[in-house]
Amino acid sequence: MAQSRIPVLIIEQDGHARELLCNTIAAIPVLSLLAETDSLFYGYELVRHNRPRLVFLNLNEQLDKGLDMARRISRYFPDTVMVASGNYTGPDILRACMEAGIRDYLIRPLDAEDIHRVFAKHQAMLGPHDERDQTGRILSVFSNKGGLGKTTIAVNLALSLSEVIRKPVALVDLNLQLGDITTFLDIEPKQTIVDIARNIGRVDAAYLETSLAQYHCNANGAQVYILADPLHLEEAEEVTAEQVNAVLTVLKASFEYVIVDTTSTLDTKTLTALDLSDDVLLVSMVNLPSIRSTQRLLGLFNRLEYNLDKVKLVLNRYMANDEITVEDVEETLEHAVFWKIPNNYPVVMTAINRGIPIALLDGGKALDKTFRELARQLSGILPEESASALNTAGAPAGGANGSHGRPPNGSPFTKPEASADVSSQTGKSIILRLLRNVLSKNTQKA
Ligand SMILES: Nc1ncnc2c1ncn2[C@@H]1O[C@H](COP(=O)(O)OP(=O)(O)O)[C@@H](O)[C@H]1O
Ligand SMILES: [Mg+2]
Repeated sequence: MAQSRIPVLIIEQDGHARELLCNTIAAIPVLSLLAETDSLFYGYELVRHNRPRLVFLNLNEQLDKGLDMARRISRYFPDTVMVASGNYTGPDILRACMEAGIRDYLIRPLDAEDIHRVFAKHQAMLGPHDERDQTGRILSVFSNKGGLGKTTIAVNLALSLSEVIRKPVALVDLNLQLGDITTFLDIEPKQTIVDIARNIGRVDAAYLETSLAQYHCNANGAQVYILADPLHLEEAEEVTAEQVNAVLTVLKASFEYVIVDTTSTLDTKTLTALDLSDDVLLVSMVNLPSIRSTQRLLGLFNRLEYNLDKVKLVLNRYMANDEITVEDVEETLEHAVFWKIPNNYPVVMTAINRGIPIALLDGGKALDKTFRELARQLSGILPEESASALNTAGAPAGGANGSHGRPPNGSPFTKPEASADVSSQTGKSIILRLLRNVLSKNTQKA
């Protein structure tokens, strides 16, 4: 079988080094030069779009920004082997490279022998593309309590994701008895999940194209293909967990992102979707009943030895001046908060009642930006501010903050240091005591 060549990207500002890299790569038959650029920003975009397997990165010019970008690549595109080079020597730079996911570090000036040696060393890792690279990601929006905002988040996030990746996104209504997506976007589906499930043997990209309802948002170019819930209540039971599995797998093969809106019931269909998901956005709110139900769920996930790394806690209807702080929530749930979506009842309700996305409301700009930033964070597309920082010498690079997938620095939701202790100590300790009381009772019960 003919082996496909390994695509290589060069991010290099120095002309001589670039020429050396290009010539050396050209001399290694299994490598093919995908592109060369002197810009970290375009380098990252090339990684995102073209998925090179090997990246040569000059760290000399912009060490912090280069490391920042490497961190982001290793987080979102872990199959990419990065080889950095620079004039720095000593253990600190090696540690920094390792921490950023860079596999090897070459001291400049580069020579062809080093490049051959480093390629030989990592050749085994640079085998053919993993099949999984070719399929999309499934992202479920779940909470084990109704009315917390799952559908609001699923719909607006799907549109934002499509806007930022500039490709259509699939949106599936797995709330099979009481789905709301068609109402939220005021659409009439041609077919529902029941039809697709019945015809699953014939379902391919062309079938999906004609049978899914399309929603196109002229304002931002977002395009979402919707798999609607059954028209009749009694049909919900017809859909089996196996069919849910098959439908999501087919969609994943055609779309870069499949967003799944769920019910609050942990039945086998929901569990199937959660199992198949690459990310589960676990929606909660900052109040005792919601935190309590989230705690129960995380407890269950723990007992099931569920992969908690993919569970991303999203606090909806967040209010910065809430008595219970994000830190309280994190401490109580022992789980990092991934994102906060501000409370804005008039905007969300108007959007729902008019059957349009938040992006189309004049008053919805701030909330829409939140969804766009969330979409960027989930898809690994640089946040607007750090994209411009990578382009602007001297400006601080925000963004890549991989640990627990927290929002990037500079995000509108990063709590300012100054407000870290808004509530008085007494008020705060009462709330924390209350939280702990409720939760310890709950643990005893469970
Ligand atoms: N960020 C928000 N700010 C204010 N209200 C919200 C927000 N998100 C959701 N809501 C309100 O919460 C209610 C339930 O939202 P919905 O998305 O239907 O939740 P779920 O799908 O979890 O049942 C809706 O009436 C909606 O207006
Ligand atoms: Mg809902």
